[in-house]
Amino acid sequence: MSRFTNLPTLFETAWSAPSNIALIKYWGKKKGFQLPANASLSVTLENSRTITQMKAELIGQFDVEYLFEDKVNEKFQEKVKKVILTYAEKSPELLDYKYQFKSSNTFPHSTGIASSASSMAALALCLLSLRQKWDQELDSKENFFKEASHWARLGSGSAARSVFPGLVQWGIHNDLSSSSDEHAIGADQFIGDDFLELHDSIIIVDEGEKSVSSRAGHALMDSHPMRERRFELANQRLSQLLSIIKNSDWTRFIDIIEVEALELHSLMMTSSPSFILMKPNTLAIISELREFREKQHIDVGFTLDAGPNLHVIYPKREAEKVKNWLSSIEKKYHLNIIHDQMGFGAREEKLK
Ligand code: PMV
Repeated sequence: MSRFTNLPTLFETAWSAPSNIALIKYWGKKKGFQLPANASLSVTLENSRTITQMKAELIGQFDVEYLFEDKVNEKFQEKVKKVILTYAEKSPELLDYKYQFKSSNTFPHSTGIASSASSMAALALCLLSLRQKWDQELDSKENFFKEASHWARLGSGSAARSVFPGLVQWGIHNDLSSSSDEHAIGADQFIGDDFLELHDSIIIVDEGEKSVSSRAGHALMDSHPMRERRFELANQRLSQLLSIIKNSDWTRFIDIIEVEALELHSLMMTSSPSFILMKPNTLAIISELREFREKQHIDVGFTLDAGPNLHVIYPKREAEKVKNWLSSIEKKYHLNIIHDQMGFGAREEKLK
């Protein structure tokens, strides 16, 4: 049986973790394991979540079964095994368990919404709840979530930000003394009144898989001619954005998030090899959004992930007008839209 004493023989838990959208993008790594080359800032969403239930049986050896929507996904199962092996460097007890995971997303499968952040954060939280059984350091909520963010990062960099609510920062930055490359931190103290219920409606321009994996994408920055300047600019914009959000300055906020989104894509377009991840409709809808904003004087902007879908960002007070505009876009382009907003972070769920 197990080499360790006092481990639970059977442990079950369930966690859900949301997706997040970066306003200042993490694109490019430092030397080391999953360390960001620049600091990033994101908004944690509420409705777009991964829910993961874990059953761990102490059998004295390591085994993993990972069911996504009731089916084994070999590729993802292998990834999960690897991630748990990295956790086990610190917590070898984890390797004495046989795991069964049952996972699902609250957002439709084929939306192209990145689920690696939400799924890796939920995974980290399940395993950390098990480690908590023998590691008293994790009894403090603060330590627990800090370590959860660290473990989430080992699965997928941006997942580090998905365990915390609201506005989240990750990566060493001069303006934030508790910032770290190892884990993310909550930055809710910077949320101005007009940003409290920030909305994000995701226009699903294309449902297909990404044509460049994030691992390959980050690696493109290793030799990018704009590399150093890009990291400098991202860190500068993060400073600016924190005070802009605190002062609820929507005009400057929109300028910065749009430039960040377009810069991310321009970096991909000018990498070697080069990738164009926007689709014609991405650009068409950006033009329409800018026209709508200018004509109607509405505080609304967009950001993009490493894909063609548009995240339309606006304050609650503009929700009615923006949603009317979005329904006209939905009809005109025959696209789906997912309405989400700034949310409350990861949470423990009831077992099913
Ligand atoms: O966490 P990764 O390795 O999938 O990288 C995420 C990269 C972006 O989504 C493009 C930007 C970000 O900061 O989330």
